Amino acid sequence: MNTLTLTQAVFSPTGGTQRVADAIIGSAMNVNKIDLCTEVAPLPLFTPLMAVLPVYGGRLPVVAVERLRRIKGQGQAAVAVVVYGNRAYEDALLELKNELTACGFTVVAAAAFVAEHSIVRSIAAARPNAEDLACAAEFGTKVAAKLEADDMSVVTVPGNEPYKELPKMPVVPQTTEACGGCGRCARLCPAGAIPADAPHTTDAAKCMLCMRCIMVCPRRARLLPAPVKEMMAQRLQAVASEPKLPELFI
Ligand SMILES: Cc1cc2nc3c(=O)[nH]c(=O)nc-3n(C[C@H](O)[C@H](O)[C@H](O)COP(=O)(O)O)c2cc1C
Repeated sequence: MNTLTLTQAVFSPTGGTQRVADAIIGSAMNVNKIDLCTEVAPLPLFTPLMAVLPVYGGRLPVVAVERLRRIKGQGQAAVAVVVYGNRAYEDALLELKNELTACGFTVVAAAAFVAEHSIVRSIAAARPNAEDLACAAEFGTKVAAKLEADDMSVVTVPGNEPYKELPKMPVVPQTTEACGGCGRCARLCPAGAIPADAPHTTDAAKCMLCMRCIMVCPRRARLLPAPVKEMMAQRLQAVASEPKLPELFI
């Protein structure tokens, strides 16, 4: 029986980050979950925290960081995990470590895993694969052992400061006439970028192009303009085709 309970805060608009997060927990720990795709009330936390976030433009999604900042630690251990689409995670892991430290945690483990690229799904297709998931489970076992041993040694992670500039999103998803106005996209948009009373529109100032509205639309009525997708696919094929392996810092 596990005695270790950890809180896991996950931001996963299209599910790849969640799969990695679940595999890390495996059977190694008991877990309380915080969904960073929804609003988070200010929360003093007394358990260790594991934050699992996707990489957007070599950084963390702004909305996820804003919500993470509402969770306050009391010096206890935290684990920083980023999930990226096989291009690069650049400054995202360092940013996550720094954010967790600023929230009052001590970052004792970190990792970067690969998942299918949520914009161009042919990049890192079927990742995390069986090896990735086994590696995530092994990481979880190591994390549990470190937490149980009260080993508070801080890890060093790659990344540069100042961080890369936050990317500007070139487009927002478009809505076709297949839209039935059901509002599912508006309800599930992590950024509140789709008005409930006009779900065929998108607020470009809020949209972070997370792709969730495209994934959840029952009529496939939301999509990226084809030329943009084609341009992104070509760019990514040049830099993200060689499979990358998980990296663990513990
Ligand atoms: C707006 C955006 C920017 C992204 N930027 C990067 C990046 O810089 N490097 C990379 O390797 N993958 C990048 N990705 C891919 C995601 O990090 C990856 O697909 C992740 O698994 C998505 O998480 P989710 O499935 O939980 O939504 C990006 C995806 C999106 C939507």
